[in-house]
Amino acid sequence: MKTPKPKVWATFDPIPSVVEYLQSHADFSYNESGQLAGRDMILRQLPRLDGLFVTLRDQVDAALIEKAERLKVISTLSVGYDGIDIEAATKRGIWVTNTPDVLTDATADLAWALLLAVARRLPESDRLVRSGSYSGWRHTLMLGTELSGKTLGIWGAGRIAQAIARRAAGFDMRVIYSSRKCKSEFERATRATCVEFVQLLQESDFLVLAVPLNDETRNRIGKTEFDLMKPSAFLINIARGSIIREDEMVEALRQKRIAGAGLDVYVDTAGIHKKLGDLDHVVLTPHIGSATVETREKMAFLAAQGIVDALQGRRPVNAVNDIETGEFGEALERFAHEVSGEVL
Ligand code: DGY
Repeated sequence: MKTPKPKVWATFDPIPSVVEYLQSHADFSYNESGQLAGRDMILRQLPRLDGLFVTLRDQVDAALIEKAERLKVISTLSVGYDGIDIEAATKRGIWVTNTPDVLTDATADLAWALLLAVARRLPESDRLVRSGSYSGWRHTLMLGTELSGKTLGIWGAGRIAQAIARRAAGFDMRVIYSSRKCKSEFERATRATCVEFVQLLQESDFLVLAVPLNDETRNRIGKTEFDLMKPSAFLINIARGSIIREDEMVEALRQKRIAGAGLDVYVDTAGIHKKLGDLDHVVLTPHIGSATVETREKMAFLAAQGIVDALQGRRPVNAVNDIETGEFGEALERFAHEVSGEVL
C-alpha cells in the first residue's frame, strides 16, 4: 500500500510554480477564497495538516498550535516571524521556517526609496503636478533636504540593517547604528559606528528602524524618543508598525517635533492610523519592503523548500528554531555566525 502524501495547506494562494512544487511533494491545497484565512479557517484545517504555509498576516498563537495534532512545520512567507508563537511550536516539536537573505536587498532598497521620497518630497511634488496647480519653476518650490554630509542612523544590526548602511556610501553620509551588541563585521563592511540608543536618537538626521518585533522592541519608540530626536530628523520604518507608539508619532509629526516620516508598516497590519493620511510630510507605502517580482518568487520557493525539508525529515536550512535542542530565535547557533541574531 502506498504511504499517503503529507498534507500541506497554505492560508493564501502561492504563485503557480510553487503550487506545482508543493503538489509534487505533498497533498497540497490552499485558501482559494481570496480573503484572509482567519483563525477559524486555520483551526478547521489544522488537525489534518503536516505542514502549514502562512504569511505575516496570519497569527499562529500558542492556543492554535495546541490544536495541531500532526503538524511538523510552519513556514512563513516573510523574514519576520513575530506572528508565530515560536516557543509553543518548538515545545511541540514543530519546525518554524522563514525567508531570510533573499529579501534583504529589496527591503533595503525600499528603506532608501522612502528616505529619498520624504527628503525630496516626491509624493507631494507628484500630487502638485497631477493636480494641475504646477505653473512653472520657482526657486522656493518644494524645497527638500540634502542627504550628503548628513547622519544616517540605523536601529538594528541584522542583514537588512547592514544592506541599508552599505547603500549610504553612495550618498556620502556618516552612518551610525545601535544594537544590543556592536558588530565588528557590520563596521568593517559599512564603516558604520556603533553608538548607544540615546545617541542614535539624538544624532540621526535620518533614523531607520530595522529591528525585529519582539518584547524588547514593541512600543519602544514614543514621545520620549521623539523628544530626543532633532526637529529636522526623518523617521523611516520598514520593520514592524508596533515598534512605534503610533499616536505619539502622529503627535510628534503634527507638532513638527520631527521633520517627517517614511512608513511601510503600521500597527494595524491591514490599514493605517487615520490621522497619518492627513500629513503632507509623511510618505506611506503598503508594506511592500520585499515586494519585487524577483524577491517574492525567491521567498516563495525558500519557504516551500523549508516545508519539504521538514516533511522529508531534514533540518530546514531556513529554520528559526531547532526542535532537537529546543532553541529558537536569536539563541540558535545558526544566527551566531551571522552579522547579528536579528533577522531584519
Ligand atoms: C518581512 O518579510 O518580514 C518583511 O516585513 C518584508 O517587508
